[in-house]
Amino acid sequence: MVFVASETRQATDADDVAGVSHGTSAAGAIHVRNLTKVFDTEEGTETVFEDVSFDIEPGSFVTLIGRSGSGKSTMLNIISNVLEPTAGTVEFEGTQNDEVTLGHVFQSPRLLPWNTCVQNIEYVHENNPEYTRDLAEEYMDLVGLTEHYDKYPSQLSGGQRQRVGITRALSIDPEILIMDEPFSNLDEITAEALREELIDIWQKLGKTVFFVTHDITEAIELSDRILMLGDGRIFDDMSIDLERPRDVDSEEFLKVRQDAINRFHAIT
Ligand SMILES: Nc1ncnc2c1ncn2[C@@H]1O[C@H](COP(=O)(O)OP(=O)(O)OP(=O)(O)O)[C@@H](O)[C@H]1O
Ligand SMILES: [Mg+2]
Repeated sequence: MVFVASETRQATDADDVAGVSHGTSAAGAIHVRNLTKVFDTEEGTETVFEDVSFDIEPGSFVTLIGRSGSGKSTMLNIISNVLEPTAGTVEFEGTQNDEVTLGHVFQSPRLLPWNTCVQNIEYVHENNPEYTRDLAEEYMDLVGLTEHYDKYPSQLSGGQRQRVGITRALSIDPEILIMDEPFSNLDEITAEALREELIDIWQKLGKTVFFVTHDITEAIELSDRILMLGDGRIFDDMSIDLERPRDVDSEEFLKVRQDAINRFHAIT
């Protein structure tokens, strides 16, 4: 069974806000085929990328890197069915005929301003009879938001709001987790703690993670594979074979990092 993202589906309002997509397939692989996105602008049209194809293995951690404006968020938004592609398809595939659930951590967290943190999380569980407030609190504790359960988004810092967005995506226990620069507004100490937490969750729960960052060190620390987007195409696909946990100061890490930088600058 596959879920084709370009097909229309009935999304709920909660899905749209929180980036939760339900399809008719099980967890795992993502197949992107011949994807093209052209935006109509006042000056004419802008082709963000053209004829892009790649596959993501079930349970893998894959990161997309590229310069600002290269189309990373556009790609994630098409994969999670927030945007329609101009051409091409996205299919999800699994081993059972279950539903596939996608959690999307957006680049800006898209919280409902009239809801508290806990209510923003409850919102995506409105059709889940098993949901209890404990679940929201458990995930908020995980990202260090214990003091902030009942605050409104306007009462939080940018980094705290971003963490509510991360909590909301994790709380639906998605099979595929899509994350758009989730740690870029956080201080380095919090970001590093969350990276470790994310790797822990990923290793324990076997989710597929498709992650976006500008930060090459972060990409190497986290990923099995790095896709490089630029010039409207994926121009490199680099496997990262370093053992985990990864020491960003080790000689091997710095060697891989230099290699990634050289490859990244091959076209950008
Ligand atoms: N809704 C839209 N209408 C028109 N053009 C758009 C729209 N959304 C994005 N674009 C354009 O598409 C290009 C890619 O944007 P996108 O947000 O995907 O980049 P990005 O790689 O995520 O950048 P950043 O690293 O700054 O977040 C940009 O040139 C942007 O101006
Ligand atoms: Mg972006």
